[in-house]
Amino acid sequence: MGKGSAFYLCVVLGVAGFMAATAEAADLFSFEDNFDIMWAEDHFKASADGQIWYLSLDKETGCGFQTKQRYRFGWFSMKLKLVGGDSAGVVTAFYMCSDMGAGLERDELDFEFLGNRSGESYIIQSNIYKGGVGGREMRHSLWFDPTEDFHTYSILWNNHHIVFFVDRVAIRIYRNTEASNDAFPNEKPMYVFSSIWNADDWATRGGLEKTDWKNAPFVSTYKDFQVDACQWKDPYPDCVSTTTQNWWDQSEAWTLSTSQREDFSWVGRNLIIYDYCHDTDRYPKLPNECINSPWD
Ligand SMILES: *[C@@H]1O[C@H](CO)[C@@H](O)[C@H](O)[C@H]1NC(C)=O
Repeated sequence: MGKGSAFYLCVVLGVAGFMAATAEAADLFSFEDNFDIMWAEDHFKASADGQIWYLSLDKETGCGFQTKQRYRFGWFSMKLKLVGGDSAGVVTAFYMCSDMGAGLERDELDFEFLGNRSGESYIIQSNIYKGGVGGREMRHSLWFDPTEDFHTYSILWNNHHIVFFVDRVAIRIYRNTEASNDAFPNEKPMYVFSSIWNADDWATRGGLEKTDWKNAPFVSTYKDFQVDACQWKDPYPDCVSTTTQNWWDQSEAWTLSTSQREDFSWVGRNLIIYDYCHDTDRYPKLPNECINSPWD
């Protein structure tokens, strides 16, 4: 961790890497130093050592937190254990956004976890907004029960592509090419957010399954937040590889490795439930980026 130049500051936060590298217990990740609670302070709890966080939803309110800093390009990762049991109607999100609210011009990268009735599997939805335009949903099922244990959800973002990872397996790739450049969010720095809320108007079976408040509070658990990214500063850094040496913007990070491609293809064959790029009822003329292949 250190100052790269007067114009940018590269940060590596996160308990795991940090602790392994320094072995100094005193360097524990501090929630307060890095995050603000967005709403409902009393629905947030941390473990005694501050390293595990709990967000809860009840009939009154959900809860959310966000980074104090904004970043442009990098690696953003979190371990989450989702609400177990009957979680129909409950959505937990881990996302990045250029605005604090739902700004009309916002850029946004989303992971949303859609709860379900006991024993029915969770769905992970992802979406990408550029200049306030989203509608780029994909939905995947998972190869594990995300409520049983912590799993890692990560976003790699550079000027070549955005990759959504689950336990280091790439499940979605969104490329920046000439054809799709206008639809690629790359200008606005983003905060990292997480929240839990009631979305029983749409989340589970299209809104048919309602949240059963008898099971409240619904709790999602977090640990090992990691940011390895270009922190936004005034005057603006450009945060691209011509001026920085960051691993997430070197050529190895511009495309997937052979084994990553194999895993990605397996996910594509087995776990995709919905892809807006195949939804011609909704998009009679498919958006430009839909012609992109995931690499080459
Ligand atoms: C919930 O379970 C039902 C029944 O298995 C399934 O159809 C649905 O896709 C699941 N997930 C959501 C988010 O509705």
